[in-house]
Amino acid sequence: MRAATGFSLLRPFISRCMGHFMLENLSPQAPDALLALIKMHAADTRPDKIDLGVGVYRTGQGDTPVFAAIKQAEQKLVETQDSKSYLGPEGDMGFVNGLMPYIFGSDATMGGRITGMQTPGGTGAVRLAVALAQKAGVEQLHIGKPSWPNHAQILNDISLETVWFDHAREDGSADLDAVLQVIRNAGPKGAVLLHGACHNPTGIDYSSEQWDAIADAFAESGTFPIIDLAYQGLGHGMEEDAYGLRKVLGAVPEAFIAYSCDKNFGVYRDRVGAFYALARNPDELDIVFSNANALARASWSMPPDHGGAAIRLILRDPDMTALWLDELTQMRDRMRQVRATLGDAGMAGSVDLAPLASQNGLFSMLPVTPQQVKQLRDEHGIYMAGSGRVNIAGLHMGNIEKFVKAVSVVTG
Ligand code: LMR
Repeated sequence: MRAATGFSLLRPFISRCMGHFMLENLSPQAPDALLALIKMHAADTRPDKIDLGVGVYRTGQGDTPVFAAIKQAEQKLVETQDSKSYLGPEGDMGFVNGLMPYIFGSDATMGGRITGMQTPGGTGAVRLAVALAQKAGVEQLHIGKPSWPNHAQILNDISLETVWFDHAREDGSADLDAVLQVIRNAGPKGAVLLHGACHNPTGIDYSSEQWDAIADAFAESGTFPIIDLAYQGLGHGMEEDAYGLRKVLGAVPEAFIAYSCDKNFGVYRDRVGAFYALARNPDELDIVFSNANALARASWSMPPDHGGAAIRLILRDPDMTALWLDELTQMRDRMRQVRATLGDAGMAGSVDLAPLASQNGLFSMLPVTPQQVKQLRDEHGIYMAGSGRVNIAGLHMGNIEKFVKAVSVVTG
């Protein structure tokens, strides 16, 4: 009877000993789909498998080597670093400031209106940017669909309302009217997140004229811009890929910038990024960064040092800087060559590869169904994101023909 009514003399004792069960409240979460692809590809024993999944650069031999400039800087770091004592939540300011002329141009602080701090990768920078925007009163973040999947995950995690808009046309070009309309109508509590260059996942970038119109729309509407620049130098060049960001910053009083060094310095696992803010006047930056430091302290306390310190050394040494820029140019040229070859291939089954030639950076989207993505993986050993996103750098002259044929077979 006692069991049936749920009454037990022992229950208070048992619950004191056993505690309350909290972990059963957790529901299982799917692993991050992009990161899961790394493991699936690694487990595939087919020698001619092709990895077009997660966004890392690969050489024509399919490797992702450490940049020679990074190796040199690391060597110097080992020889000269005399302490690993704490820095602060802002990380290595020599690194943060050293990057600024590359990102913002010759007047790198815009008269003292821009400053920054180091973050754990671009993800840390995006998280800081959107969390700080939310703290400052942003209630909706408008973002073009599709976007980097982790944008949605971060926004969901901080419970910031995300408003999606279609930013790409079917022919693989940018829908400028859509983005202009969103900027103009975002309202006083809306912010708009744009990719600064080499859009992930579509590879669709705005032209200079389109950025000019975007900058005007921000200026006229007063909408707050957040620019995510994770691929500077992989599109057309360090200067060229900063055109849009600089144009927008020149037109607005305030903005946030999330920056990643994962790709353009090849330091993926070292987690090197930076968050920058543009304020109306230099005095406001103290308050902005007191909040940014507090958010960072509560999240990761301070960023990992090693990669940022190595990049600081590169940027302070003209020879290492030249070596780094040369390596970046080689990467960019190789990807342009792959894109040109794909573009020349034209139709592969029902997929028109021509637009890929004029897109930029590591990624492009193929109009394939999830079923076709699975078939490419199962039957041809070709790994790509479920959305149809391909990492262009996974292709080279030794596997591009197989790729084009497989896409023809699966979609034909
Ligand atoms: C990607 O999109 O593949 C990269 O930016 C890696 C990542 O963290 O998702």
